[in-house]
Amino acid sequence: MAAIPSVNLAGVEKEMPVIGMGTASFPAADLETTKAAVLEAIKAGYRHFDTAFAYGSEKALGEAVAEALRLGLVESRSDLFITTKLWASFAGPGQIVPACKMSLQNLKLEYVDMYLIHWPVRMTEMVWKTPVPEELVQALDMKVVWEGMEECVNLGLTKGIGVSNFSCNLLDHLISIAKIPPAINQVELNPFWQQKKLREFCKEKGIHITAYSPLGANNTKWGDNRILGNDVLADIATAMGKTTAQVALRWVYEQGVSIASKSFNKERMRQNLEIFDWCLSDEDLDKISQLPQTKGVTLAAALGPHPLVLEIDASL
Ligand code: A2P
Repeated sequence: MAAIPSVNLAGVEKEMPVIGMGTASFPAADLETTKAAVLEAIKAGYRHFDTAFAYGSEKALGEAVAEALRLGLVESRSDLFITTKLWASFAGPGQIVPACKMSLQNLKLEYVDMYLIHWPVRMTEMVWKTPVPEELVQALDMKVVWEGMEECVNLGLTKGIGVSNFSCNLLDHLISIAKIPPAINQVELNPFWQQKKLREFCKEKGIHITAYSPLGANNTKWGDNRILGNDVLADIATAMGKTTAQVALRWVYEQGVSIASKSFNKERMRQNLEIFDWCLSDEDLDKISQLPQTKGVTLAAALGPHPLVLEIDASL
């Protein structure tokens, strides 16, 4: 297997492997299934893992990391890059540091490598049913939340901070008030949602983009098979002796974007790492650039079609 390249993140000492294993599934996979998948991923060569409080996978990831260290699959905690995310119900005054500590407790870790604001929205109560009552959903007080995120860095709870699902406008606002600029914006990005404007904006501002749903989150509540079932990508894959998934992941990588892709299947997680010793031709890139653009993931699906939520979805 070709080595997994790493990326430099602004203000973060440790480099991040460009492909990470996602751990979101819905309904959430049970602890043992997730733990076994993470251990399998570590054996396959993954060193970057992506979780979130809202995924319910922090505990399983933490147990797998502890087990991997016990088994000697990795030498030390610092060999791994672990990202988790602040859920909307903790995005209020005085809540950010305790939320980060709660995630660390779930993970049984002393620090994470990256802590992201999961969505640019606050919920004043923790509600897991959809729709969330509209009166509980508020815009973020960016200054309050980012100061809390910065405090997490200053306390050593995380090495870096960033955001997820942020538009150019929100990033602009955040940059104008941040003492520690966001290192990452994690967004939906794939051949069917190419995010050209956001990519250009983030490049100019030195914010690295990580793609979630790079395969269109096939077989999940929030995804579909528009990527893995697409003929243009399948034809490119056949001609190159690759799989459609590999073509989609390689395309994401060639855009200078890192990847959080989920597979709990041993063969597929290995297959997804085999994208670093070949490249797409200009002709293939041209065909992919012409694919129709359709957004898959919406906040409205999780919180309900409230005006603020629809506005956030429209900006992404
Ligand atoms: P599984 O876990 O059974 O492999 P995304 O990365 O866009 O979130 O997509 C994740 C979905 O795609 C999961 O349902 C995962 O299923 C599936 N998947 C991951 N890798 C591959 C692959 N190489 N080929 C086909 N399906 C894949």
